[in-house]
Amino acid sequence: MLLHIENLLDAATVARMRARLDAAGWIDGRETVGLQGARVKRNQQLPDTSPLRTELGREVLAACARHPLFHAATLPVKILPPRFNRYADGGSYGAHVDGAVMALADGTQLRSDIACTVLLAEPGNYTGGELVIEDTWGEHAVKLPAGDAIVYPASSLHRVEPVTHGARVAAFFWIQSLVRDESRRRTLLQLDTAIRQLDAGGADGAAVKQLTGVYHNLLRQWSET
Ligand code: NI
Repeated sequence: MLLHIENLLDAATVARMRARLDAAGWIDGRETVGLQGARVKRNQQLPDTSPLRTELGREVLAACARHPLFHAATLPVKILPPRFNRYADGGSYGAHVDGAVMALADGTQLRSDIACTVLLAEPGNYTGGELVIEDTWGEHAVKLPAGDAIVYPASSLHRVEPVTHGARVAAFFWIQSLVRDESRRRTLLQLDTAIRQLDAGGADGAAVKQLTGVYHNLLRQWSET
């Protein structure tokens, strides 16, 4: 499931983050990937230990926590602190699959069910840089307004096209979901969306309650931590 989340960050927040990021010290992005990624990754990142990464990452996660669609779509149990990357001067990231298991600072591990990219550059300000995601329906090229996010399965083959003009700056991170199976997550999101619509449309209260019970009973059956 590819999901476009609009206005995760407002324009003022994006501008403030960009001012800090544009003045930051970037390093070669190959320092944070395994062998498969290093062969195809040509971009820059903030160092993992950068205080700016920690500060802005927390801000991104706070915005995610406030966004009802983000929560309903991902059902997060663990989130890797966001990293920030920059593609310019022909930089790209060839086709790859993200690592399945990632280490967290507290010594625990995260299973990367879902990947999320939050765009911090307006599409008109750079050329190329599409995130291309392959799924069973083919390839999807994604280029979104600054402040918007794309949520997609970390298991999918994906790439970032070369940025031939300007710079593409983004935050990215992975989520371990309470519900590991993607089709089940999609079912829960569809049910949640339908319940909200029925409720907003003044549908029969008892029926809405019953459907809400079905949602929670499915979540109970399918969730794992
Ligand atoms: Ni990736």
